[in-house]
Amino acid sequence: MKLWGGRFKEKTDPLMERFSASINFDWVLYEEDIEGSIAHAEMLEKIGILSQEEKESIIRGLGQIKKEIENNEFKFQTELEDIHMHIESRLIELIGDTGRKLHTARSRNDQVSLDMRMFLKKRLKEIEIKMLRLLKVIIERAIDEKETLMPGYTHMQRAQVVTFGHYILAYYFMFKRDLERLKTIEKTIDTLPLGSGAIAGSSIPLDREFVRERLGFLKVSENSMDTVSDRDFCVDTVYAMAMIMLHLSRLSEDLIIFSTEEFSFISLPDSLCTGSSLMPHKKNPDSLELIRGKSSRVLGDLFSLFTLLKGLPMTYNRDMQEDKEPLFHALETVSNAVDIACLCIKEMTLKKEAMKKAVYESYMPAVEMTEYLTLKGVPFRDAHTIVGKMVGFCEDKGIKLHNMDLKDMRAFSPVFEEDVYDFIEPKNIIKNRKTIGSASQREVEKIVEKEKTYIDSF
Ligand code: ARG
Repeated sequence: MKLWGGRFKEKTDPLMERFSASINFDWVLYEEDIEGSIAHAEMLEKIGILSQEEKESIIRGLGQIKKEIENNEFKFQTELEDIHMHIESRLIELIGDTGRKLHTARSRNDQVSLDMRMFLKKRLKEIEIKMLRLLKVIIERAIDEKETLMPGYTHMQRAQVVTFGHYILAYYFMFKRDLERLKTIEKTIDTLPLGSGAIAGSSIPLDREFVRERLGFLKVSENSMDTVSDRDFCVDTVYAMAMIMLHLSRLSEDLIIFSTEEFSFISLPDSLCTGSSLMPHKKNPDSLELIRGKSSRVLGDLFSLFTLLKGLPMTYNRDMQEDKEPLFHALETVSNAVDIACLCIKEMTLKKEAMKKAVYESYMPAVEMTEYLTLKGVPFRDAHTIVGKMVGFCEDKGIKLHNMDLKDMRAFSPVFEEDVYDFIEPKNIIKNRKTIGSASQREVEKIVEKEKTYIDSF
């Protein structure tokens, strides 16, 4: 008979058993389930529900089950639905009637929330470490390339001269926000749900504070109905995963474009690419394409959770079992994608000559030209029009701004002097940038120094 089978006269349809089983994905919660049960048993002893021997026998039994699972000796069976039922049934099998006392004043509703919160606390820490490694890799690349000129784009058109160091730091800040988001979410997760029971708490005087301390939670949940129906922490987590994937996907898109023959700004190592089964010359950036592709499924995970929860009446509904697959999938995908991104950033080769050529063969210094005029007293709007006309002149002649004669420049504005050529020289442009957060090597150096301290103190 099923552990919940008392009131049932008929057996569960095997099709229904298969339909309702979650064991093939929630078995990963076994460690947390056991840890939570041990704390619960200790508490039950403290309040006099279990004797010391009973508690010890339960703990021994649970320890044995953990070993069985880890040694692949544990028998998983669809009829037992989920990991919670599996462990409890096996405990009863192993230690007899004492095992039947463990579930006192506990429901799978508060138990599953506990397991997931404990599981997430661990997994988020692991992802934080990976994110930190990603930040480190970016910082190292940024400092090496603080003087490497490249075009910065808006609308995918050459816009202003930047450096690769400044460009890659943009991603540093995206991923830093992602990391900080994980820390915030950790706090939301850090609430003990156990002791809420199925929906309304218990008339048995459970010592929830004892369990909280024993399991290292920050606080105890304050409304039993909210507790068993709350999956906000899962949505928060998957949102955080989706943002990481979104950022990784944008980075991938950039690098895929930069690695085309047309751009030729970077080249990925063979170890992160694959070839074509038909075209012998192909080397495809599959690592980056897969990050971009996999991000779509993680965004899907987020929307699965939103739609799963939006129409659910209070409190626990079995629908909620469907929270696990998107959650686990999102964590797993991010964990792998971050590692691959680290490798790509670390191991890609920059083709600096091509980047430099793209910088010099452009009208990007037009902006600095307007600033040159503005600094000499020409109102900005007028300067904009003047330089716009100069660009038109150059285009007609097939030259760039720095190829113009001073005489021709003066025909557009009398304030041009010989020093304009230095002013619009890309290397000087980078040196001259003065604003906080701008693309100058000083700013990159400053940020790298500051952020190294952030990383070290994390
Ligand atoms: N496997 C279930 C889940 O993940 C555990 C909770 C089941 N609770 C229940 N009342 N049937 O949601």
